[in-house]
Amino acid sequence: MEITLRPYKTEDTQAILDIINYNILNSTALYDYNIRTYDQQKVLLDDKINKNFPVIVAVCEGKVAGFGMYGEFRFKEAYKFTVEHSVYVSNDYQGKGIGKILLAELIQIAKKQNLHTMIAVIDEENQSSVDFHEKFGFKTVGIIKESGYKFDRWLHSVFMQLILEK
Ligand SMILES: CC(C)(COP(=O)(O)OP(=O)(O)OC[C@H]1O[C@@H](n2cnc3c(N)ncnc32)[C@H](O)[C@@H]1OP(=O)(O)O)[C@@H](O)C(=O)NCCC(=O)NCCS
Repeated sequence: MEITLRPYKTEDTQAILDIINYNILNSTALYDYNIRTYDQQKVLLDDKINKNFPVIVAVCEGKVAGFGMYGEFRFKEAYKFTVEHSVYVSNDYQGKGIGKILLAELIQIAKKQNLHTMIAVIDEENQSSVDFHEKFGFKTVGIIKESGYKFDRWLHSVFMQLILEK
């Protein structure tokens, strides 16, 4: 199966939105309760691009099978060498190596952008994402207990960090 990576284009917005909204409704990967509209998602993506952060999509069989991006971890100036990223692969394409290609590319871009560290904030129930990040050398540096509440239960946020080596 051929997987191509390329930068996000406006016409990818609906496919990205579909993946995001599926995860909002069916998982704890996102802490949103309500699905997003096309316009809300477009604003979020444009904001990343306008700030020179990467949004990359993985294309398989002519479809957007997944995407990855990063942005500010926190907004005070001293955090400027730290980013928080996310990687999402649509259900149909999970377990085929797409997430791995996307995260590897984000790490390369982050190094080129002279960033120092990447953070993933992962719901503790999402063990597959924790395992996935561990394979890239991310370490769990903290768990914020009961920081989320969704589907009538408390959720715990796992903070995983990779210090980027030159
Ligand atoms: C987590 C996610 C991005 C991984 O992407 P993917 O394309 O399914 O994963 P890959 O096929 O590239 O697998 C990469 C590695 O992670 C491991 N992995 C992937 N899914 C896994 C799972 N469910 N359980 C354990 N390990 C898993 C694979 O074994 C693989 O390791 P290997 O190369 O040593 O075999 C994807 O499953 C996903 O989008 N999940 C839902 C949304 C989400 O949780 N995003 C992360 C939010 S930070």
